[in-house]
Amino acid sequence: MRHFLTLADFSKEELLEMIDLAVKIKAQTKQRQFVPYMEHQTLGMIFEKSSTRTRVSFETGIYQLGGIGLFLSANDIQLGRGEPMKDTARVISRMVDMVMIRTFEQSKLEEFAAYSKVPVINGLTDSYHPVQLMTDYLTMMEFGKADNPVCAYVGDGNNMAHSWLMLASKLGFELRIATPKGYECDPEIVSQAQAFAKESGATLIFGNDPVEAVKGCDVVTTDTWVSMGQEDEKEIRLKAFDGYMVDEAMMAHAKPDAIFLHCLPAYRGYEVSEETFEKHADVIFTEAENRLHAQKGIMVWLDQHRSEELGIRN
Ligand code: CP
Ligand code: NVA
Repeated sequence: MRHFLTLADFSKEELLEMIDLAVKIKAQTKQRQFVPYMEHQTLGMIFEKSSTRTRVSFETGIYQLGGIGLFLSANDIQLGRGEPMKDTARVISRMVDMVMIRTFEQSKLEEFAAYSKVPVINGLTDSYHPVQLMTDYLTMMEFGKADNPVCAYVGDGNNMAHSWLMLASKLGFELRIATPKGYECDPEIVSQAQAFAKESGATLIFGNDPVEAVKGCDVVTTDTWVSMGQEDEKEIRLKAFDGYMVDEAMMAHAKPDAIFLHCLPAYRGYEVSEETFEKHADVIFTEAENRLHAQKGIMVWLDQHRSEELGIRN
């Protein structure tokens, strides 16, 4: 059974199939045409961390597909009181048709998936945020930046950086990552991406100079310097990331028509300046909206594959 745990598990063709579905379903939605691709299906949504976009987009998305979303905060279900992940998986996946999880370690998500009877989607872990990157690619397409782009990620070598690495190395474009020393990407994920890049022809460049990374690029992106679960490190991180704010001086090194992406929430005055954020607000909030559409593409793709495996025609 196919789960959506990391982009590493998919071929370029499969990722583009999901994006094609997202484009089609977005166009239908804009026509107020709500095609019931997943009629009567339930999406269980387990959250061990906070969320605005992921919750609203998945819940709205499954509803627009003819199904219903169940918001399950870890604090409110027995998982939060110590019921094992594998038992939670075996219970919930017998009742719902698909599960989305936002949690800490990728291994917790993998454990759930290993025990699940239905497809599982990664709604963010400490290691990856793959639904966000599918969204970002859809947004790049809409703003004319998906054709052999040069992209620069400036900031923390975190779940967003790792997912950018997966997207670039699978689809075959150039990605430059600039992180402060000590905040680089996970070396295991880097070597996995490098192996994919050999096949796809992607160029992956790593360094500690944000201006160098941004020079002449088409897409600039960043993420918070303090991810969920790192609140205790806030003070030390803010010092370490000094000089990494994406502002107009930094953007001046990119192509004049470069776009700026941010997965949100954004912390102005830290990873991005107020001016740069507001200048690119149209792209950023289209990106936020695209969570809804990209994830519908992913859910429908997974559901169609599940039906094929079960020998059921939709
Ligand atoms: N970008 C993103 O995943 O936002 P939320 O944390 O609000 O879901
Ligand atoms: N890196 C951030 C992304 C939030 C959407 C975090 O994990 O908190």
